[in-house]
Amino acid sequence: MTKATFNLHPRHHAGTVDPRIFGGFLEHMGRAVYEGVFDPSSSHADEHGCRRDVLNALDELDFTVMRYPGGNFVSNYHWRDGVGPIAERPTRRELAWGTIEPNTFGTNEFLALCDRMGWSPMFAVNLGTGSPEEAADWVEYTNGTKETDIGKQRAQDAAASTEPVPLWCLGNEMDGPWQIGHMSAAEYGTKARQAAHMMKLVDPSIELVVSGTSLPDNPTYLSWDQVALEAVGGFADYLSTHRYLDNYSGDTSAFLTSGVAIDQQITEIDSVCRYVAGKRRSRRRPFIAFDEWNVWYRTRNRTGMWADGKFPAHLVEEVYDLQDALVCAQFLMSFIRHADVVKIANIAQIVNVIAPVLTEGDKLLRQTIFDALAMFVGRRTGVSLHLGYSGGSVPAPDFGDVAMVDGAAILNEDKELHVFAVNRSADSTVELEIDLSGADLEMVSCDLLHHSNPMMQNTWDNPNAVRRSVIETSDGPSPVVQLPPHCFVAGTFKVS
Ligand code: AHR
Ligand code: AHR
Repeated sequence: MTKATFNLHPRHHAGTVDPRIFGGFLEHMGRAVYEGVFDPSSSHADEHGCRRDVLNALDELDFTVMRYPGGNFVSNYHWRDGVGPIAERPTRRELAWGTIEPNTFGTNEFLALCDRMGWSPMFAVNLGTGSPEEAADWVEYTNGTKETDIGKQRAQDAAASTEPVPLWCLGNEMDGPWQIGHMSAAEYGTKARQAAHMMKLVDPSIELVVSGTSLPDNPTYLSWDQVALEAVGGFADYLSTHRYLDNYSGDTSAFLTSGVAIDQQITEIDSVCRYVAGKRRSRRRPFIAFDEWNVWYRTRNRTGMWADGKFPAHLVEEVYDLQDALVCAQFLMSFIRHADVVKIANIAQIVNVIAPVLTEGDKLLRQTIFDALAMFVGRRTGVSLHLGYSGGSVPAPDFGDVAMVDGAAILNEDKELHVFAVNRSADSTVELEIDLSGADLEMVSCDLLHHSNPMMQNTWDNPNAVRRSVIETSDGPSPVVQLPPHCFVAGTFKVS
């Protein structure tokens, strides 16, 4: 047993938590759309062809924004293929993942789904094989006037009108050699600026996300971001960054210090945003859209990522364990700690493809990471508080000793304090005291995600091996929560 304290002050704010950091990502990839959210042949299909069981499970995760339609897919996607009468839509060879795209699900099906689920849509435009004009036409289609031919077509295509699409990504991972239409940062900057200019002329209210470095290992990390941001200039509202963490080495202790690497990436990307704004003598800085994040490595190989002409193919259907869930919690805690700069974040993805939910025939499985995400639901609104930590440490590769307990805290207007904590230690139970400058804290709820085996997974045979449970705290003005080794805790306390 060891002791630790989260030292908090109600007026030491890190920033207001933007609800959009609890976003998701739905790509036309593998069985995410087809056999995932959309499957008219399923016994679970509703009148729109969507799987009720999948939507019910996703509803529990209460995603705020939903990024669509890719990902690598978008760089060879023409949005016009996915609108109009379904029988007239073309079937295309898809080059990002090697599949066949039937286009039976497209813009209007997705927007109708967003309406039903309460998701705010976040579109990515094709800056690979697409043109700035095609991107601006898509904005006209979803957000424009009914007077133009494109607007009239929309009115014909969509049974019900939907809200305008407020957020648009200028391409996807254009720095990556794998990306269709990959180009240099300068070339991308020119094309992205042209697209941004036209898109904002169509609808000046939209916000734009510049495609940044897709992974810190890329040789152009940070320099790509600088060149692209400078080129897009005042049209840039956000800079995108992505991160997929792995445990190839099988070193649980090292893997569970991942939060430090996430913090580092955020501060480095933030530095570029501030530098470019400073150089432009601008007071309007771009913020961070961490618009793809997750754990992904077991299925990260050519055979797992290439459909070879099959549709729909089982692509990257990663099966997650407890450690992965603890790392997912660290991603979200890091975004909360950096609430002043991270305004949007999207877990990649939501169903079947590196996802919290898996389907097989009529069956549905909630993975370990599902519970980690669910533990933030109902605990996401308010201001993030600076978190002072005192307690034990664990060694992190490249970073020296880091806190044994990773944490985040949110204080809301109803005087509720939400606290999140991951115990990184393999063998120490931690008695965690939460000290809000001496205020009385009464426990309202507290959930624990834990298993004695960090490698434990939820499987079709054992679907509830790792599920969250309710825990009690001890009484007293400063509550003490027991954190068993390798666990995630999320608690809510009434402040008086
Ligand atoms: O989420 C899967 C893929 O990962 C996305 O298509 C791409 O943007 C990233 O490399
Ligand atoms: O994170 C980038 C991914 O790495 C791409 O999606 C994939 O094609 C590459 O191997």
